[in-house]
Amino acid sequence: MKRTFTAVLLIGGVGVGMLLWGAAVPASADGGSQAALTVAATTAAMGDSPHAYVGSSKCKKCHMKQNKSWKKTKMGNALETLRPGVKADAKKAHGLDPTKDYTTDATCLKCHTTGHGHEGGYFIPDAGDKKALKKAGKLAGVGCESCHGPGAEYIKVFEDIQKNKRKYDVKELYSVGLTKMDAKACTNCHNETSPTYDASKPFDFDSMKDTDTHEHIPLKQRD
Ligand code: HEC
Ligand code: HEC
Ligand code: HEC
Ligand code: HEC
Repeated sequence: MKRTFTAVLLIGGVGVGMLLWGAAVPASADGGSQAALTVAATTAAMGDSPHAYVGSSKCKKCHMKQNKSWKKTKMGNALETLRPGVKADAKKAHGLDPTKDYTTDATCLKCHTTGHGHEGGYFIPDAGDKKALKKAGKLAGVGCESCHGPGAEYIKVFEDIQKNKRKYDVKELYSVGLTKMDAKACTNCHNETSPTYDASKPFDFDSMKDTDTHEHIPLKQRD
């Protein structure tokens, strides 16, 4: 499974990147449907979710506590790790260049940001473009959607659940992009393609499942 995914990424990488750059302009200018069309085609090729990312701040108004605690986690700040000089010893130990700026390296951004390379996902902002910097900032680090899935569609269902104070069956959310929490939700990134992965300590989902994610509030409306 993992192997197939990686192979598709490698083969599709260049084409996907170009398509996304093409889509990035209209998408940020007017959120046009051309972007949606282009991305539907590219994500299908990647065998991934067809839904778009919206950024962690969109979840905040209904999940304040999760947001506040997540912000302090290492994963929440994973983009910082890619800056020159940060975690220099760890970089040296794994054959990475501690003086290099890895924040523009797509191979790292894939796991250190939210949805890089997908519609609505993290993009590299122009240093002088304040609006772009702000928008990209909401997708920095391992965000809510990195684990829970791209939110554009399921967020609408949550809005309805909230508004009508109704019970819900979680399956209605899975069908529009919410990720079921299983090993894959973590091992998409916690795998041997991470340059710092310690193969002698493989990621064990059952014991790690909920380490360093966020504070939890018991669910009341889930059926
Ligand atoms: C989008 C990629 C991605 C996903 C998905 C992901 N992680 Fe991570 N994780 C990272 C990155 C990147 C780091 C390193 C953060 C840093 O130090 O910059 C990390 C670090 C961690 C750490 C180490 C933090 C510490 O305190 O030392 C734990 C624990 C962890 N992740 C658990 C999980 C669990 C559990 C899941 C699934 C529920 C998960 N991760 C899903 C990318 C991911
Ligand atoms: C496949 C996903 C993935 C990719 C690609 C990736 N990382 Fe990470 N990174 C992680 C995860 C997961 C962690 C947490 C530790 C671990 O399991 O490797 C991490 C942790 C780190 C750490 C902290 C290690 C520590 O001991 O605190 C550094 C530094 C780092 N990554 C740099 C990079 C750089 C630079 C790149 C690009 C050249 C990169 N990573 C690409 C997933 C990834
Ligand atoms: C590194 C992965 C990861 C990230 C990032 C993450 N979560 Fe979670 N989240 C989890 C896990 C694991 C659970 C527990 C799920 C379970 O037990 O089935 C969870 C549970 C939840 C729940 C259920 C109620 C609760 O509090 O347990 C909500 C709501 C939630 N997350 C919202 C968010 C929001 C909002 C963000 C961003 C601010 C976020 N999550 C970021 C992994 C993550
Ligand atoms: C309009 C409010 C609202 C927004 C915005 C929102 N949610 Fe929720 N979410 C809810 C409600 C309400 C529940 C059910 C809470 C309960 O049962 O107590 C919920 C539940 C969840 C659950 C638990 C699902 C389950 O049953 O396992 C997760 C995970 C979650 N939200 C993640 C997110 C993420 C990620 C985002 C942003 C992309 C987000 N939510 C945005 C209102 C919202």
